[in-house]
Amino acid sequence: MAGARARLVVVVVSVAMVVLAAVVRHAAATGGMGVARTPTGAPLPQAQYEVAVAASGRAAGLPKRFMVNETFPDCLPPVLNQGGCGSCWAFAASEVLSARTCIYAGEKVVLSPQALVSCDDVLKCEMGVLGGRAWHDLTKHGIPTLECVPYVSGDGKVPACPTQCSAPGVAWKTYAAANYTHVGSFIDPASHIAAIKRAIMGGPVDVTFNVFAKFQEYPAGGVVFDGCHLSDGGRFTGMHSVMIVGWDDDMMGHGPAWLVQNSWGEAWPATTPMGVPAGHFWIKAGVDCAGIESMVYAGFPATA
Ligand SMILES: *[C@@H]1O[C@H](CO)[C@@H](O)[C@H](O)[C@H]1NC(C)=O
Ligand SMILES: *[C@@H]1O[C@H](CO)[C@@H](O)[C@H](O)[C@H]1NC(C)=O
Repeated sequence: MAGARARLVVVVVSVAMVVLAAVVRHAAATGGMGVARTPTGAPLPQAQYEVAVAASGRAAGLPKRFMVNETFPDCLPPVLNQGGCGSCWAFAASEVLSARTCIYAGEKVVLSPQALVSCDDVLKCEMGVLGGRAWHDLTKHGIPTLECVPYVSGDGKVPACPTQCSAPGVAWKTYAAANYTHVGSFIDPASHIAAIKRAIMGGPVDVTFNVFAKFQEYPAGGVVFDGCHLSDGGRFTGMHSVMIVGWDDDMMGHGPAWLVQNSWGEAWPATTPMGVPAGHFWIKAGVDCAGIESMVYAGFPATA
């Protein structure tokens, strides 16, 4: 069955990524890379790494805090909801391309994650993978707006690749990516924080991270999520792609953190303490927390 074969491919790709993430984590744990280092190579104590991350940003002339919505007002799509479909990969990529089409082409659009889900031969609702695959799709064929092709796969069913709007009276027009790139490094992500920040200063970026069971409790464990490793994050439950929309080098005294827009609707997380916008979460920056700094993608719209 095509579906079973597709699932197998996705599982193989996903397992490979988990292994890669595990290798990176292992490397960090055994002294090569991943966390800020003293000149002798020993990991910096917790408090000092925060100072190191902030200092590296200042050295690169980067602001202490940056919010995409403030630099590019009204360009971020609203918080969407993928429902019961493993389509995070399509949401993250289409949201980032939406915002960047607004930023670079001056056209305020919310693009259709459904078109990506329906037109990708393999991923569909099955699972998250690295952003590169969705961005490759976006350079090959554009996607229409969400208004033209609304999201219907929340129940896990995937209709055929659309060639016209399902909404009546909406004109078919597609938006593609001109190019895309992996930002930073799979091998040494922590030394590429400035590169990731510079990319975000040009618009939101598409990131994938490893979800550990503790993430489901957010923000119960603290407004900055720090269950970064299998050992402190709990069971691995899958990979998730989302959109980074800002950073703060000292998020309310909790150290450096990325602000992330999720695609689980505005009702997640269930509580939003001060500083946590509905539908968003903060995650520790500078330590490749759950792999989030290894798997960063950004692209530009073809319409620019
Ligand atoms: C931008 O987003 C932040 C975090 O959600 C929020 O506090 C701020 O009010 C927003 N600013 C604008 C101009 O929308
Ligand atoms: C990516 O595409 C944009 C828009 O066409 C263009 O300005 C930019 O130079 C391209 N970047 C690369 C690395 O090709």
